Amino acid sequence: MLKIGVLVSGGGTNLQAIIDAIENGNITNARIQAVISNNRNAYALERAKKHGISGSCISPKEYATREEFHQALLGKLQEEEIDLIVLAGYLVAIPPVIVDAFPNRIINIHPSLIPSFCGTGYYGLKVHEGVLERGVKVTGATVHFVDAGTDTGPIILQKAVEVLPEDTPETLQRRVMEQAEWILLPRAVQLIANDKIKVENNKVHICG
Ligand code: GRF
Repeated sequence: MLKIGVLVSGGGTNLQAIIDAIENGNITNARIQAVISNNRNAYALERAKKHGISGSCISPKEYATREEFHQALLGKLQEEEIDLIVLAGYLVAIPPVIVDAFPNRIINIHPSLIPSFCGTGYYGLKVHEGVLERGVKVTGATVHFVDAGTDTGPIILQKAVEVLPEDTPETLQRRVMEQAEWILLPRAVQLIANDKIKVENNKVHICG
């Protein structure tokens, strides 16, 4: 049984998609061991509570240095014996000390088709603002493993979503979530939980 640690900062709709998939059997052989937020007021923590999942806040504000914060987070992940870390709207960069401790054991959902509209500065609505500004006709979402770079790890799953002429960053964000993110993230967890993913030369192969 894969023990998942979900890291969140905000609303937690992607967390909800994983909770729902576990409850309805679309994800098997996995359970959410812990939900950890950097932000005490994240609604994601409420979602965890409603489903009887342990939620906690580890905030950088409560530590004298960034290193101490990173050590506290790493300590919690190790104490909970987490097998897979899922970044579900986590707005803190994952430090090398955690990436090294969880090689190909951290996944992230990014709301664009990587390598477009990703990297430093592309988070939240900024991604969708960039998409509309450039005038691309298709965007989407990507689930990828996390390595030392920003949005540079091996790509697990991607799904395209149409951009409409009347879109605002908000309407586009919503459509990308509904049509791509909430489908891809549980699917990626299911593949990992059932040992269907291999990484070779920085590329993901899906077996079976
Ligand atoms: C999503 O758009 C996700 O792709 C991005 O942050 C947002 C999180 O939303 N990384 P939520 O907290 O899961 O509702």
